[in-house]
Amino acid sequence: MTPIELEKRAFELADKLIDGEKLSKDDFALLIRAERELPEENAAALREKLSKRALELKQLHYGNAVYVRGLIEVTNYCKNNCLYCGIRRGNPTVSRYRLTKEQILSCCAEGYALGFRTFVMQGGEDAYFTPERVADIVREIKRNYPDCAVTLSLGEYPKEVYALWREAGADRYLLRHETANAEHYSKLHPAEMMLETRMDCLKNLRSLGFQTGCGMMIGSPYQSYETLAEDLVFIRDFRPQMVGIGPFIPAHDTPFANEKAGTFEQTLFFLSIVRILLPEVLLPATTALGTIHPHGREMGMLSGANVCMPNLSPADVRSKYSLYDNKLYTGSEAAQSLNDLEKRLETIGCNIAFVRGDSKLTE
Ligand code: 5AD
Repeated sequence: MTPIELEKRAFELADKLIDGEKLSKDDFALLIRAERELPEENAAALREKLSKRALELKQLHYGNAVYVRGLIEVTNYCKNNCLYCGIRRGNPTVSRYRLTKEQILSCCAEGYALGFRTFVMQGGEDAYFTPERVADIVREIKRNYPDCAVTLSLGEYPKEVYALWREAGADRYLLRHETANAEHYSKLHPAEMMLETRMDCLKNLRSLGFQTGCGMMIGSPYQSYETLAEDLVFIRDFRPQMVGIGPFIPAHDTPFANEKAGTFEQTLFFLSIVRILLPEVLLPATTALGTIHPHGREMGMLSGANVCMPNLSPADVRSKYSLYDNKLYTGSEAAQSLNDLEKRLETIGCNIAFVRGDSKLTE
């Protein structure tokens, strides 16, 4: 295909996408390829076409509101050894920590006073956080703050465990699928981790009534136009309430330390596509996006994102939850600096909504 044909076809597909027509995996792959391979001027025009539509759809469903979530990173111990992740088991240079129930509750108290109405408990897969221990903390948060949503992001567990946490009152669960292609999955993870398990977890979470989030990194090693196309088909068909998308950023002392980072532009492109595929989805402008560009969050919002997740972890552990290098945890990334975030959002006509911000996506 000549560059001119590629351009023509990509713009046709962008129109189809905007019109709500169903694209095939090959269509998505071509669109993704065009964004990477067309001359920058044309690629930018393609991104702009989709971000314009994504922004319209976001405005239609959410107006100028940005939902904020207080992110509490409860542990950086992890039994897994994902090749990309800075807190993988095999990284001996990580200074490990875990928060006590009291510390987590005091994060919530501080967050509540700041205006947060969603708390996200995220952590590595740490045996210290037994199913019952997590359930107990969730119950306590929900008892103290019945008007708040609790989101968990603690990795893969059997359905019974998810059910226990749901009964304890957890509302949402984030578990990125990382890639919808099994072969790619096996290149990002050690042999004991399987895409099938991940997908089963996501289905179980959904069937238990969690607002469920999947997602992937953009630019992870071995990713291709085809695997990314499979991610989009999966996201469209699974219809998650939330999608977490950020650039891959290498982490030191991991097998992927010397790999290239994902690009800012491609990440924005995917935010727009996902907004168009699922107009009501909750879509964060991730910390990783803020890390690779000084205006990452604002640009994310202009490309279709509508959620921000400032860091509410105790100040002394923030630098230890280093999933990747140079991860932000100060300035607008800190829960304590909501004013700072508010000012940034004002420059693009958005404002923080101090509400639970539940998903409007139903089955
Ligand atoms: N770069 C970007 N994102 C990463 N994550 C883990 N390691 C990295 C990295 N090096 C993401 C994964 C995981 C989420 C918690 O953080 O997608 O699901």
